[in-house]
Amino acid sequence: MKNLENVKKLFQDRESVKIFSTVSKEGEIHSIVAGSIMVIDDDTMAVAEVFMNTTCANLENNNKAALLAVKGMESYLVNATMQKRHTDGQLYDNVAKQFAAMNMQIKSVITFTIDKIYDESAGPNGGKQLF
Ligand SMILES: Cc1cc2nc3c(=O)[nH]c(=O)nc-3n(C[C@H](O)[C@H](O)[C@H](O)COP(=O)(O)O)c2cc1C
Repeated sequence: MKNLENVKKLFQDRESVKIFSTVSKEGEIHSIVAGSIMVIDDDTMAVAEVFMNTTCANLENNNKAALLAVKGMESYLVNATMQKRHTDGQLYDNVAKQFAAMNMQIKSVITFTIDKIYDESAGPNGGKQLF
């Protein structure tokens, strides 16, 4: 992820809290917890759609999203643009298998292009744009 190893590490940490925000057609912000937020590569992140009714309705009208991870005093915010809602293919199959092992069924895996990254930690770098 743009060679920002600490950002990648926090999003991949099973113990970090991950928040996924979208915006409705009317401009209303909707934030949910999404434990499945994952880093695919330096440019791409993804999330598993298990429920996400309002979130997916928002994404149909506005492809911009914010992905935030926090653990302790460390936090990073990724502003992203939706690429695709995958309902088949290798990525979908891999994630579906992981969720099936937890007796959960996914509807899709949604991929995003990383647009901007901010450090939102409680410290002197809080608010600083990293990418
Ligand atoms: C710890 C935790 C992790 C969650 N992870 C996911 C997830 O990965 N995917 C998902 O669809 N919903 C997940 N949810 C449920 C969402 O927060 C949300 O309640 C649900 O998707 C409905 O979203 P909506 O308001 O967009 O309809 C999680 C909830 C919690 C509390």
